[in-house]
Amino acid sequence: MYGMIHRAARQMMLENAGDAAWLRVSTRTRLEDDAFISAQVYSDEATFALIGAIADELNTPLPDLLVEFGRYWVSFAVKSPFSQIMMLAGDDLVTFLGNLDRMHASVKASMPGAVLPAFYLMSSDASRLTVSYRSPRSGLEPFVRGLLEGLLNHFGVEGVVDELGPSQNGVDFQIRYTV
Ligand code: HEM
Repeated sequence: MYGMIHRAARQMMLENAGDAAWLRVSTRTRLEDDAFISAQVYSDEATFALIGAIADELNTPLPDLLVEFGRYWVSFAVKSPFSQIMMLAGDDLVTFLGNLDRMHASVKASMPGAVLPAFYLMSSDASRLTVSYRSPRSGLEPFVRGLLEGLLNHFGVEGVVDELGPSQNGVDFQIRYTV
């Protein structure tokens, strides 16, 4: 994955656990500074090794760490050079999710090596929405859950995210609004 992802993971770790903890992770993964170039592609193995090492260091189960990283990613992206692209995708959650693939397509224009997932907004009403996630990668469902929670927070909506499981479209997630 692109180095931008590694940078976000490093930033999250530094903010939550400090320099010494980060030093232990970078020593363990043997990732040098050149693994953090935003616009360069690295193997998914390198990315997963980094995320796994952070989970170990924080003594957090990997799925929980992925949820946390998903939430963090939304706040990181908002402050990144891609914030404009993100803002243009919509002012509310439903519009945004409907535009997510187009937003990722704009990202791909500057990051041609990215392998991006697909999201399909299946239904929405005043109390809930269902969105389907599809990716050639596996195991990132907790990351998606965290991303959706991060988006709820970004749009100032109270809600609960549940993974409903596989469907013909991919893996379905439901968001129930609590206000
Ligand atoms: C401006 C905001 C965003 C940018 C710049 C961005 C960019 C990226 C990049 C570069 C990757 C890694 C792909 C690769 O290197 O192969 C990625 C992956 C991913 N993005 Fe986004 N993204 C943004 C927002 C979002 C949001 C809001 C969601 C919410 C659902 C999302 C869902 C995902 C998922 C689930 C992946 C993991 C890849 C996979 O599932 O296969 N992204 N994104």
